[in-house]
Amino acid sequence: MEQYIIKGGNPLVGEVNIGGAKNAALGILAAAVMSNETVKIENMPNVNDTKVLLQAISSIGAQVQRIDDNTVEINGSNIQSLCIDDGFIRKIRASYYLLGALLGKYKKARVALPGGCAIGSRPIDQHLKGFRALGAKVTIENGMIKAEADRLVGAHIYFDVVTVGATINVMMAATMAEGRTILENAAKEPHIVDVANFLNSMGADIRGAGTDVIRIRGVHRLKGAEYAIIPDQIEAGTFMCAAVATKGDITVKNVIPKHLESITSKLLEMGAQIEESDDAVRVVATRRCHPTNIKTLPYPGFPTDMQPQILIALGLCDGTSIVTESIFENRFKYVDELARMGSNVKVEGNTAFVTGISEYRGANVTAPDLRAGAALVIAGLAAEGYTTVDDIHFIQRGYENFEGKLRSLGGMIEKVNNDKEAQKFKLKIG
Ligand code: UD1
Repeated sequence: MEQYIIKGGNPLVGEVNIGGAKNAALGILAAAVMSNETVKIENMPNVNDTKVLLQAISSIGAQVQRIDDNTVEINGSNIQSLCIDDGFIRKIRASYYLLGALLGKYKKARVALPGGCAIGSRPIDQHLKGFRALGAKVTIENGMIKAEADRLVGAHIYFDVVTVGATINVMMAATMAEGRTILENAAKEPHIVDVANFLNSMGADIRGAGTDVIRIRGVHRLKGAEYAIIPDQIEAGTFMCAAVATKGDITVKNVIPKHLESITSKLLEMGAQIEESDDAVRVVATRRCHPTNIKTLPYPGFPTDMQPQILIALGLCDGTSIVTESIFENRFKYVDELARMGSNVKVEGNTAFVTGISEYRGANVTAPDLRAGAALVIAGLAAEGYTTVDDIHFIQRGYENFEGKLRSLGGMIEKVNNDKEAQKFKLKIG
């Protein structure tokens, strides 16, 4: 099994290019099947989640042509099956975006019901409520969600919770419903705006994405388009936290600094120096930082997907920080792994009390999920001695060439398959 082996202690220094946003890509790739003309998508992150979604898209008969690692063309004119099976949903929950896309286009779709996952129970009641409000009959049979309608008709839908997934899924279905839909209490994340912009580039009529009221006028058909995905806010934030944790100096390039504001403002509170330009942010933290308190919230609040990475940095500050997780109920599992590295973190319910230590110590740890996995890698890079991180398939779901980018910043990290390769790395590094 692949694992990372890391020798910590080097400040990470240099520039790193940030790829396209994974969570925008998942919505956009699914939405691409709604047109019968060819859609070209650029700046697509070449990560496992997008690879699996592209397989799901091929499995229903859409044509998928890879132009290069980060560019793909999709043509949905020949779709034969409207059923996405359990295998895809188990690998990647966001395959459920094909439910909204296919329901909008064909008024019919079947997708396996996603279960819970490592970070919480993750219900999808708001997705189903939205589809039903548009006139679909939605049933759950033998683990499959079946949605069908004679006609989809625009509706006024008020989400009970702010949800990224339901906002995107219902927005896609409403794009091809008859008449006007209003989504209230919609999520405002940058990737929602990106999916809406992409749909509009195909001829949809969506206004207000990025605010909590989205207005959609349904259209009969969507045309082809060429579209470049926005930069990944979370990948950028991960490297920014790595700069602080390793007392380094990293410039994240090809980013939209506005999308990073909740992260930059916290790093500033911690005492890091930040320089922003049009499409880059430099984070310098040559000294030990100060504690601060963080609460995860929907955008523009601090992202839950950045909670583990910033906690790693807070764990090395000169005092106690309080981190409150308000989006997912089970997102502190990795704290037990971090404890192996000598951290001083106590979790009570959805709150972590993080008392800074002077240094992590290398240990064998296991990635419990995508973002926590990346966070443990950062801890390893900041730690004294060697760390191994197992189950890195989680990290590969969402970070393209993570180890290569970290190495280009001076990180001593290698992906290895067995003990022999790990020993070789140790001999090389010394
Ligand atoms: C998306 C992101 C994920 C991120 C999360 C929050 C993708 C592919 N994934 O996940 O990386 O961590 O947003 O920013 O974009 N909820 C309900 N009912 C529903 C749907 C959600 O109660 O029908 C709850 C969830 O349990 C959670 C909260 O709403 O407590 C937010 O979830 P949501 O925004 O939907 O997250 P995802 O779209 O699954």
